[in-house]
Amino acid sequence: MRILGIETSCDETSAGVVEDGTTIRSNVIASQTDLHAHFGGVVPEIASRRHVELILPTIQEALDQARPVIPPGIDTWRDETALDEIDCIGVINRPGLIGALIVGVAAAKSIAFSRGIPLVPVHHLEAHIYANWLSPVESREQRVESRERPAVEVRFPVVCLVVSGGHSDLILMSGHGEYEILARTRDDAAGEAFDKCARAMGLGYPGGPLIDKLAKEGNPRAVAFPRGKVGDTLDFSFSGLKTAVIRYIEGAEGRVPLPDLAASFQEAVVDVLVDHTFRAASERGVKQVLLGGGVAANSRLRSAVRSRGEQLGIEVIAPPPVLCTDNAAMAAAAAYFAFQRGEVAGLDMDCYATERLGGRG
Ligand code: KG4
Ligand code: ZN
Repeated sequence: MRILGIETSCDETSAGVVEDGTTIRSNVIASQTDLHAHFGGVVPEIASRRHVELILPTIQEALDQARPVIPPGIDTWRDETALDEIDCIGVINRPGLIGALIVGVAAAKSIAFSRGIPLVPVHHLEAHIYANWLSPVESREQRVESRERPAVEVRFPVVCLVVSGGHSDLILMSGHGEYEILARTRDDAAGEAFDKCARAMGLGYPGGPLIDKLAKEGNPRAVAFPRGKVGDTLDFSFSGLKTAVIRYIEGAEGRVPLPDLAASFQEAVVDVLVDHTFRAASERGVKQVLLGGGVAANSRLRSAVRSRGEQLGIEVIAPPPVLCTDNAAMAAAAAYFAFQRGEVAGLDMDCYATERLGGRG
């Protein structure tokens, strides 16, 4: 089954084609980061307008790149995927910037209506989780060879750590589409903390990748920043850490080299994320941990989760960094499994600025 995924929930316009929920045929991501960097964050109205400009060329590019596998022995083959080879549309319709979501949803509805194919609404966090089912992008030749390659083997129940610019959630996933939220952030999301602290350090936007890079040259023990705790719950809190970083910069500018500051901040975030994730895993007796969301691209988080997983005998699965940040292939993967459960929407499908994973919409 070939699904066209569409994602426009924030500042990435993305379209991609995925086969059977696992094999990426294309994943085109048109980032608007440059447009928003000037303002130090995403400006919703600007994002919506840019999505309008980018959505059709992005979908066309995704179809062009999703060339079919050439069966051995055949030398002539059409070089793009036609719309009538798409079996289903999966679109992220919640949560996100409403004016941005509307653009992707309108495009998805139009295609579904005109081709007479099913339309599957996808929750943004669910898409981040399903990025773990995607096989890495392969060249055309590799695709022919590895056609039968099995997908990543996820064995339920698993604990998912989804950390992005808007969310920091620990989710128990006990089957396809079955979620229990174990923890969330009480204030800032992890990615938000990265972005805000990067701004305070005078770095650009988005701050996560810049701090990640800078921290590689720094000492993570240079400054002992607080590890946010919310009683003895698994919930996260990053606003205290953010304030501590800002206070530190105001009081001690120039005293600690920026790479040390970046590394110390990053370590404080990573420590808490890793601790809570494995506490959740051991409380629920699960043997696999899945990562997702933009912050899961962080190199220190990835290595810390892996080494703790090895110590505890818990397998860690993480999408490659490019599939951690927002993209449409993850929407198509989630849509494949949602379609199997009959989660098909009519043309009256709406989009929602906020909604819990597992809620209605
Ligand atoms: O999932 P995502 O692309 O968009 C949202 O759903 O929010 O996540 C974006 C967030 C931003 O806050 C960005 O700074 C952060 O993910 N991020 C990172 C890294 N790459 C992206 N944070 C830390 N380290 C990274 N390498
Ligand atoms: Zn995201």
